[in-house]
Amino acid sequence: MRPLFLVVAFVLGCAGNALAEEPAIPADKAVIQFDTKLGVVTFNHQMHADLSFTQCTSCHHTWKPGETIKACHACHQKKEGESPAAKTAFHTRCIGCHEYTVGKGEPAGPQKKMCKLCHVK
Ligand code: HEC
Ligand code: HEC
Ligand code: HEC
Ligand code: HEC
Repeated sequence: MRPLFLVVAFVLGCAGNALAEEPAIPADKAVIQFDTKLGVVTFNHQMHADLSFTQCTSCHHTWKPGETIKACHACHQKKEGESPAAKTAFHTRCIGCHEYTVGKGEPAGPQKKMCKLCHVK
């Protein structure tokens, strides 16, 4: 890797994240919306990445430092294939963490039965 790139990555990392080696989230991905047949799910990406107990790999589980981060949908698609279907992957990761933090008595997002707090028509 070129030294200039390393310096830039280090500075951005310090500004945006507790862990200097993590890349920053692109500004146009700070909030991500998923269009589903039950309504739009709004995901505050930057807010989630800034939680004290998350790293990029908490969600981007196949990513290795130095690689470009891929969208979940690059692998998780409508129908299950080599990777579980998108619906399963997202519900497992999103709801799983919310149930974990609420179980510890800490702030959490919408849990299993709270469909309409995520899927907003
Ligand atoms: C924490 C937020 C959250 C909660 C709670 C949640 N979902 Fe989802 N759901 C999502 C996300 C994110 C996706 C993935 C969308 C995608 O693949 O683009 C999804 C996908 C889906 C899909 C596939 C839709 C499509 O158009 O591909 C269905 C159906 C669905 N959810 C139903 C439900 C139902 C029913 C509940 C409640 C029992 C529920 N969800 C609770 C976030 C949530
Ligand atoms: C709480 C889960 C979560 C955390 C933590 C997280 N992300 Fe994401 N990220 C997502 C989701 C969900 C998407 C949307 C994927 C999709 O559309 O298929 C995404 C998308 C992205 C994309 C766009 C990929 C593309 O090609 O569309 C980038 C870049 C990215 N994340 C970078 C990061 C970085 C850098 C970090 C750590 C600082 C991070 N993310 C932390 C969940 C997370
Ligand atoms: C490069 C391909 C790839 C990308 C990108 C990817 N995944 Fe996966 N994912 C897989 C494969 C393959 C599996 C099944 C094997 C395993 O568990 O590692 C999997 C498994 C999972 C599981 C376990 C599902 C279950 O049934 O318990 C979850 C949850 C998950 N992925 C969520 C995500 C989310 C959220 C993102 C984006 C932030 C993402 N994945 C990005 C390939 C990918
Ligand atoms: C690693 C844990 C973790 C994961 C993974 C996670 N969340 Fe959250 N989420 C939280 C916590 C903690 C909060 C509460 C933050 C607070 O109130 O301080 C939250 C809050 C939320 C909220 C309510 C606040 C708001 O932004 O409107 C929504 C909606 C939400 N999450 C959606 C999602 C979706 C969709 C995904 C998957 C793409 C997801 N979350 C994945 C931990 C997580």
